[in-house]
Amino acid sequence: MDIRVRQSSLVEQTVDLIVVDLFQGVKEPSGATGAVDRALDGAISAVIASGDFAGKAGETTLLYTRGAIPAPRVLVVGLGDPGKLTIHAARAAAATAARKARELGARSVATIVHGVGALEPAVAAGALVEGTRLGLYRFEGYRSKPPKDWKPSPETMTIVEMAADRLPAIEVGVARGEAVAAGVLLARDLVNTPANLMTPTIVAERADALARATGLSFEALGRAECKALGMGIFMAVAEESEQEPKLIILGHNAERDDLPTLVLVGKGVTFDSGGISIKPGEEMWRMKGDMAGAAAVIAALGIAARLSLPLRVIGLAPCAENLPGGRAQKPGDVFRGMKGKTMEVISTDAEGRMLLADALAYAARYNPTAVVDIATLTGAQAVAFGPQAAAVFANNDDLAAKLLAAADASGDRLWRLPLFDEYADAIKSQVADVKNSGGRTSGIGSSAKFIEHFTEGYPWAHIDMASMAMLDEDKPAQPKGATGYGVRLFTTFLEAWSK
Ligand code: BES
Ligand code: MN
Ligand code: ZN
Repeated sequence: MDIRVRQSSLVEQTVDLIVVDLFQGVKEPSGATGAVDRALDGAISAVIASGDFAGKAGETTLLYTRGAIPAPRVLVVGLGDPGKLTIHAARAAAATAARKARELGARSVATIVHGVGALEPAVAAGALVEGTRLGLYRFEGYRSKPPKDWKPSPETMTIVEMAADRLPAIEVGVARGEAVAAGVLLARDLVNTPANLMTPTIVAERADALARATGLSFEALGRAECKALGMGIFMAVAEESEQEPKLIILGHNAERDDLPTLVLVGKGVTFDSGGISIKPGEEMWRMKGDMAGAAAVIAALGIAARLSLPLRVIGLAPCAENLPGGRAQKPGDVFRGMKGKTMEVISTDAEGRMLLADALAYAARYNPTAVVDIATLTGAQAVAFGPQAAAVFANNDDLAAKLLAAADASGDRLWRLPLFDEYADAIKSQVADVKNSGGRTSGIGSSAKFIEHFTEGYPWAHIDMASMAMLDEDKPAQPKGATGYGVRLFTTFLEAWSK
């Protein structure tokens, strides 16, 4: 779908569908909604007066214009309580409207910028573009025929604004929204794609393509290179797979060591069977999404480049498949990591932290200002939080505060948990520096403690997003399936760091 901005009046647009909005409790619409209402001889006011439509968030009503204006249909979308309008509500309203437009079979849509009076115009316009693209997203998959109820998305959406002085800000917001939405959609595609078609090599190819399109630097280290670097812990996970593991390295302003350096590290287990400590079969298919951290990091790097953020940003995505077999790592095995630290395997299913261990050692070479890792790491996180928030751990309060602020602003929710010293007791090994599982007690805390063990003195935060990668519930801006969680969080975090 093509999104464009036009200075004009909404009622004049010759399109299949016009979208306006209404705050809850408003009896007489004003602004563009008011102009449409007048052109329709009070049809919107009449629906409100009838009590059939109140402007609640998520509510919509459809009117037929019967020749009163060039567009045959008007969709009114509710914005909820006017005192409580957030960017999240504006994004959701845009998503609801876009999906409704598709359901109606509209090819061309004209819309106002939802909440443009209440929010800053750039913010509101960004939310409109994000909501539209995120809401219309679907993973087309590999069916030989489209499903029966399949409808194409609209071809064009024209954002219409009368006030000339708002247009520059709206253009800025649209450009940011496009960059962010492209990133979220990329991450969703990477996660939704089945593991046989999203191997470490393919993830690397996708990262390379993104780098070429955006000007990022790209490198991917294979098995031989990682072994030569001494990454024995990462390599232990990859050992049994026929698929070549990849340490993907993306860089934005990679040579600019005069700039603050942020390193993002994402777990990229393209399929997690559990290995020798094999998982139960029923829900195992979900583990195609065990590279959602890597997807978020790759997508965030693309956005950093598209927005030309004045930072040096490095994205590390260690990618491997975790499979059982004759060469696979076994419980009790001991491996040595890149910086010489050793680790005992208790469960081969605690593989994500093993990838992160060597990637976090590698991160030190950039002399980072801060390092943030993100991973679908523990079932315990999912049990504790459900699909409401990811958990964040940090060895630095300022870094934690910045991430929590970015979470609030972006809608990718985070909740901070402690890195108690005592969690280290659970992962003490008899034969190595540390063991990779502390058992069932404090499953999140001890996994974070394990990862902390492999950090190299820099400010560091760890995000466990196990419950957020793929959702079964359909939400306006987040259709069922891969969410793209983390992309907007990282974008907002990096932007705030740029100021
Ligand atoms: N990838 C899983 C965690 C996960 C679970 C992600 C559910 C998304 C949804 C991870 O590699 C894992 O298997 N963790 C184990 C660790 C345990 C063996 C110490 C877990 O949490 O059970
Ligand atoms: Mn696992
Ligand atoms: Zn895993």
